[in-house]
Amino acid sequence: MGELTLYSLNDVAQRNGRDGADTWLVIHDMVYNVTKYKEEHPGGSELIDEYAGRDATSGFDDFGHSSEAKRMLKDFLVGELIEEDKRANRKKKVANGGVKINRKSLLRRLCGSCAS
Ligand code: HEM
Repeated sequence: MGELTLYSLNDVAQRNGRDGADTWLVIHDMVYNVTKYKEEHPGGSELIDEYAGRDATSGFDDFGHSSEAKRMLKDFLVGELIEEDKRANRKKKVANGGVKINRKSLLRRLCGSCAS
């Protein structure tokens, strides 16, 4: 298999199924184009629309899809998220309020001038 195209969450958000746009979903950091599939989805197109242009990992996992459903994903694969938008990295960003901090600025915040 060749290299996958990289997309940001922002790229995916443009494909929200509205105004003639395609419908893309992110599941476990992979990007899927479900524009054609959504009308055939046994869980209905509404559920897909709800997650259109967004990360649908929790929805997909919470339902507990069959292994057949998981195998089907590869038919819709169009790419992968860029490193900084991957789930694990997003959590890291949230953990410190979305601000990148280095050791020195952290020390400064904690104890005023003692790090300068
Ligand atoms: C590319 C993405 C998806 C694929 C390929 C897919 C595939 C399937 C398949 C094959 C089934 C039949 C049952 C099974 O085999 O597990 C199913 C059912 C279902 N799916 Fe999905 N699904 C996708 C995304 C989603 C998402 C994002 C959600 C939720 C938010 C969702 C919710 C459901 C629900 C609730 C059912 C049960 C329908 C019922 O039996 O009444 N699916 N899906």
